[in-house]
Amino acid sequence: MITTTDLTKVYRSRDREVTALDGVSLHVRPGEVFGVIGRSGAGKSTLIRCLNLLERPTSGTVTVDGVDLTALGGRGHRARRPLRQARARIGMIFQHFNLLSSRTVKGNVELPLEILGLGRRERSRKALELLDLVGLADKAKAYPAQLSGGQKQRVGIARALAGDPKVLLSDEATSALDPETTRSVLGLLRDLNRQLGLTILLITHEMDVVKTVCDSAALMAEGRIVESGAVSELLATPGSRLAHELFPVGGPQGAAGRTTVDLTFHGATAGDPVVSRLARTHGIDVSIVGAALDTVGGHQVGRMRIELPGTFEDNVLAIGFLREQGLTVELPAQAGLPGQGAPPPDGAPPPPPASGRTAAAGRAGEAGEAGEGAETVGAEGAEGGAA
Ligand SMILES: Nc1ncnc2c1ncn2[C@@H]1O[C@H](COP(=O)(O)OP(=O)(O)O)[C@@H](O)[C@H]1O
Ligand SMILES: [Mg+2]
Repeated sequence: MITTTDLTKVYRSRDREVTALDGVSLHVRPGEVFGVIGRSGAGKSTLIRCLNLLERPTSGTVTVDGVDLTALGGRGHRARRPLRQARARIGMIFQHFNLLSSRTVKGNVELPLEILGLGRRERSRKALELLDLVGLADKAKAYPAQLSGGQKQRVGIARALAGDPKVLLSDEATSALDPETTRSVLGLLRDLNRQLGLTILLITHEMDVVKTVCDSAALMAEGRIVESGAVSELLATPGSRLAHELFPVGGPQGAAGRTTVDLTFHGATAGDPVVSRLARTHGIDVSIVGAALDTVGGHQVGRMRIELPGTFEDNVLAIGFLREQGLTVELPAQAGLPGQGAPPPDGAPPPPPASGRTAAAGRAGEAGEAGEGAETVGAEGAEGGAA
């Protein structure tokens, strides 16, 4: 639904250049909620503004719903019309809502309908319908100043849906809201995604947002996509930075003479008594040093950190057994053994730009290399995850 190829954006001013996007290739499938996460300054807002051509990319292409937006436009009123039409099919919501304080709630939703050229009665009908959709039918006559933050964002969402868009872009739409309101706005976005088949790309710096609503996610840093993929695939990818940030496993690691193993249970494996089976079939005393259960992307996922007596070599069979059970098995860096994949520290040389959804799987081995040169274990882990 949204595809960018090798998108770059360089801001030039008199005395300096800022490369805000550095070769971003992104693919968002129809009907999915796709989260882009990254720290402040990573280039997230620039990316989203380039997606609807509010900002013209320096190079690369943007295709939305089969239309190459970068090929449209140019100078002059006439030339811009196809671009304006294509843009009407892309809704956008903002952190600070951008409502007009002098207009009522209904008046705000009617604004894009005026621009689209609808008549007065049609506008009124459509605006009320949209307000009903976002649960604000009773606030039509109120002014923005009379609304809570969550209600203002609902008006923003109703306004964004005025052109019957297929795609909704959201730039930190919940960052100004408290946690409970955030949950309700995210719930609304999820409902709209399901009811209308709306494809949503949302930008956030909060992992919780990704965890709550996203089917897929990409991690951005310094204008590049560092990692991307379906959330479920990422969780099954040893060494995935996103997976670790989405769902960290706690507990100490690396006691001498013991082997620390991180297990991720997902899908069919979630309810399996794997650890007791391991203890039974291999006669090993397993210590559980950390564990957590959580819902990620609507699915139950479990993480567990266990310790096995002996070195890695002593435990090769047991680790093989765990992999055969369909778990994602990772070996964090530990005493006397090169770890496979602590996430590379910030400031490590950036990995090559990721393209497409296989990126995460490809990166798993690299993360190990970038970390502490654990090719063997890292590569093995990556295979285990892919199997
Ligand atoms: N209009 C602009 N002119 C010059 N530099 C800009 C402009 N907009 C953004 N930047 C720079 O581009 C980089 C990425 O910014 P931005 O896309 O806003 O990041 P994010 O949304 O991830 O915080 C930053 O270094 C920022 O200072
Ligand atoms: Mg931003």
